[in-house]
Amino acid sequence: KGSILYKVMRMTKRMISFLVALALTVCVISSFAEGTVNMSAYRTYLETGEYPSLCDQWQDEFKIGVALSSFQLAGAKFAGIVAKNFSSITCENEMKADSILDQTASVRAGDPLHAKLHFYGADKVLDFASKNGIQVRAHTLVWHSQTPRWFFAEGYSTKSDAALVDRETMIARMENYIKDEMEHFNTKYPGVIYAWDVVNEAIDPGNCDENGYRKESLWYQVVGPDYIELAFTFARKYAAPGQKLFYNDYSTTDMAKKVYIVKLLRNLKAKGVIDGMGMQTHISVTSPSAMDIMTAIRDYTDTGVTVHITEMDISSEDPTPYGQMLLATRYRSVMNTLKFVKEKSGCDVESVTVWGLLDSQTWLTNSSRTCYPLLFDSKMNPKPAFFGMLLDDSIPKTGKDEDIQKAIDELGLESKEEKFRNFDDSISEENEVVVDEVE
Ligand code: XIL
Repeated sequence: KGSILYKVMRMTKRMISFLVALALTVCVISSFAEGTVNMSAYRTYLETGEYPSLCDQWQDEFKIGVALSSFQLAGAKFAGIVAKNFSSITCENEMKADSILDQTASVRAGDPLHAKLHFYGADKVLDFASKNGIQVRAHTLVWHSQTPRWFFAEGYSTKSDAALVDRETMIARMENYIKDEMEHFNTKYPGVIYAWDVVNEAIDPGNCDENGYRKESLWYQVVGPDYIELAFTFARKYAAPGQKLFYNDYSTTDMAKKVYIVKLLRNLKAKGVIDGMGMQTHISVTSPSAMDIMTAIRDYTDTGVTVHITEMDISSEDPTPYGQMLLATRYRSVMNTLKFVKEKSGCDVESVTVWGLLDSQTWLTNSSRTCYPLLFDSKMNPKPAFFGMLLDDSIPKTGKDEDIQKAIDELGLESKEEKFRNFDDSISEENEVVVDEVE
């Protein structure tokens, strides 16, 4: 004690503890800043074929959802991927009016105020969801599209020139429709649905009234502009306790549209009939900017509602490793933006849904273009975009050419066996069978 040697030893010990503490702090801070939990899940996947669960990785922040159809769940591999990676499901079509309204039964029953419904497809999806402990976003009750004209016509007539009913009849039809649908699902599958898209795409700055309301909607034309508020009022009346009611729309970062939507949200919020804003988020690799997304989320949550990203897909027509790595950087950046907005600005963003699972089944592909916008390829392999959603280290933070090329080189994507080289695969056998069955 007191000797120089002792002092030197004590100093060295303190230095070592200090350095260890410093190293630990740097690690913790950098892992926060990075926002990643998994170091390189993509590299591991390329080596082993194993990859982590998307919804488990995000469980502290968001529900992670996928839009799908019952025929897809008939494939075991497809169903397995959904069960493992998603904590929310949306029916891509089977909860829309054209799937649920039963024209023959309505005519037969002959009640002008009360159309008949059936739930074949949706029930299969809800069965799957409840068996697998997954919750459902119900999409959608009142929409100008995918709602047959006969629902608005006298005698439920399918004639293209059949007379339309009066306002009071249509309001009764609306209430009964909302009541029957909500009661059906909430009785048969209690606790499964956590959110309802009550009104979809009612604002259209391109052809609107002074409130921004879309004039090209039979709801607007037959009921009048208050159809939106009426729909929310009925939905509130029949919803199960705790279910959240949403207004849902596309191009929600556009300035003109946003002004109208915010006004609508404030109005519905003041009446206590809305809980959330659904931002569809059908976007491109370059636009809207992260800043526009953040501003829109803040503008919507400022009205006192929560935000769900309801239908995200990012259009890409480039199936090469370059195009798909670029897409992955964009998914990464969007998820990072959402995480940032939630953690740092305290904006309430609850769930993020992607609009489809497999590229081969995306609604964005049509006769004039083929798109590769989703997280899984047609052979059901996770794409770079999947790892972008995970904020995986192997996906660059920017879409700069050199960063993309570097990531492709480091992962060896150009030289990997066929399945990794090009994401433009033909439809997998399993899905071919399922699609055939449906047709
Ligand atoms: C799309 C489906 O993905 C397609 O299968 C269908 O043919 C048309 O509708 N906004 C919405 C969704 O609210 O319901 C739409 O879904 C995509 C745009």
